[in-house]
Amino acid sequence: MNSIKTYLLTFLLITLFVNCKRQPAVPTGLVTEKAMVVSAREEASKIGVEILKKGGNAFDAMVATEMALVVAYPFAGNLGGGGFMVYRMADGDVGALDYREKAPLSAHKDMYLDSLGNVIPDMSTKGATAVGVPGTVAGIMEVHEKFGSLPLEEIFEPVIALAEKGIVVTENQAARFENYKDLILQVNDSVTTFPIGCKAGDIVKYPALARTMRLIAKNGRDGFYKGETAKTLSAFIQEKGGYITEEDLEKYEAKWRQPIIFNYKDLRIVSMSPPSSGGVTINQIFKMIEPYELAKFGHNSEKAIQLFTEASRRAYADRNYYLGDPDFTSIPLDVLLSKSYLEGRMENFTFETATKSSEVAHGSVEIVESMETTHYSIVDEQGNAVSVTTTLNGAYGSKLYCDELGFFLNNEMDDFSAKAGVANMFGLIGAEANSIAPEKRMLSSMTPTIVEKEGQLYMVVGTPGGSTIITAVAQTILNAYEFNLSMQEAVNAPRFHHQWLPDVVVFEPQGFSADLKENLKAKGYFINEERTPIIGKVDAIRVLEDGTLEGGADKRGDDTAIGY
Ligand code: DON
Repeated sequence: MNSIKTYLLTFLLITLFVNCKRQPAVPTGLVTEKAMVVSAREEASKIGVEILKKGGNAFDAMVATEMALVVAYPFAGNLGGGGFMVYRMADGDVGALDYREKAPLSAHKDMYLDSLGNVIPDMSTKGATAVGVPGTVAGIMEVHEKFGSLPLEEIFEPVIALAEKGIVVTENQAARFENYKDLILQVNDSVTTFPIGCKAGDIVKYPALARTMRLIAKNGRDGFYKGETAKTLSAFIQEKGGYITEEDLEKYEAKWRQPIIFNYKDLRIVSMSPPSSGGVTINQIFKMIEPYELAKFGHNSEKAIQLFTEASRRAYADRNYYLGDPDFTSIPLDVLLSKSYLEGRMENFTFETATKSSEVAHGSVEIVESMETTHYSIVDEQGNAVSVTTTLNGAYGSKLYCDELGFFLNNEMDDFSAKAGVANMFGLIGAEANSIAPEKRMLSSMTPTIVEKEGQLYMVVGTPGGSTIITAVAQTILNAYEFNLSMQEAVNAPRFHHQWLPDVVVFEPQGFSADLKENLKAKGYFINEERTPIIGKVDAIRVLEDGTLEGGADKRGDDTAIGY
């Protein structure tokens, strides 16, 4: 009799356990069986997938997608900028590549200050003086050399064809051309071959860009950093008053870096290391919230927002003070990422009332969000995964467009701290660790990330958004993992942001009720009421339990998932 009772009890407990075990979220994004590319433009995702179907791997597809974005998404896709890549091989090996721009050899700490020591407006954001040494071509060549399997010319073929045949201008793109028309004309002395006058539905061709790409496809790195292209590019930038020389171009090198790796509950998160702040800052945020049962608070609930905001406040304060190019600045990573340090940081946190940023440090600046970087995620048939964020910094970078070569130049020099304590265009204030020096890389927020669950590939994720990149990536991972949203839902979900200074929580337009905001205000949170911008444009892939892939292509843009 007793054994029957025990049996029944055990049976009941097992049934209860199985029923209580959360079922994985039903996918709502594109699901494909083998491989996928999610990027800011359909043309770029298509070309990436075409390369995969030809037998290329995720790294070949990266080269193709990155180059296709130059053609189809000149707003952020670039030859004249830089980026970061995090990868995970099918066998679990992980790594990261830094192809961030560098300060030119002639750069110096006070280069953007006037004789009184004040920051000269626009000098680090607009035109030739803002341009850092581009890293993108070195980046893709490094990837191709180490991991590529198809010949470079074969990878470039559909991209060059796209530049020659032209792309169809979307509504979003036409609106952007219109928005930035005056600035582009101003920076380029009223003359440009860039198609600023185009309307939605028009076809735009880029013959000069096709020619530049052909040289790169044929000569690799040297097709950009040496010879004809390097001569034309450096002469052009200098003629416009900038600093990049042929020597700067020739000396540029992409660098393999050890990614930032940490555990959050049963996830293992692999993200970008300095000179990006992304990995360190999300590591700090996740570790500060880990002791709490976030899922129980509810998605975007008051308590969840408080906890995330307070962790972000503390992490961004550290970011701005301690982080910079690791080749120039010594960063106390061991301490910043240690359990005891992070526990200490959260000691004064309470759900009763907001911590004031002024108690963490001083200052007051404005946040400016924008979407001018771009991220793409790739998984190939073998299970290799690539997560890449690439940028010109601002929209169309410095707005300086080289007609002869067919591309925009970055304004990444603004990511340095031009003067300690003075905000850059994202409202980020820097310190000595991110001051300007010759050949130094400027601190970034780009956070290309790969997540493993129980030792298997679980998610590839990243976004544009300047300083909001880090919080948008963290929230997307938490949306899927803690709140059980599908990949597409996790990307769609409304986001919020806090970055220590200014001491204000920014909410997206939809999804946060007036009551919720009032309650937070009553606890001492400053809420940005006037502006409710879009935060990030996430492109991600989730691996489902049966091994199929779900895309999350951000509905905030023209972003598209394609796979097979
Ligand atoms: O590296 C960075 O953090 C910035 N240059 C990224 C700029 C960006 O995301 C702009 N668009 N949203």
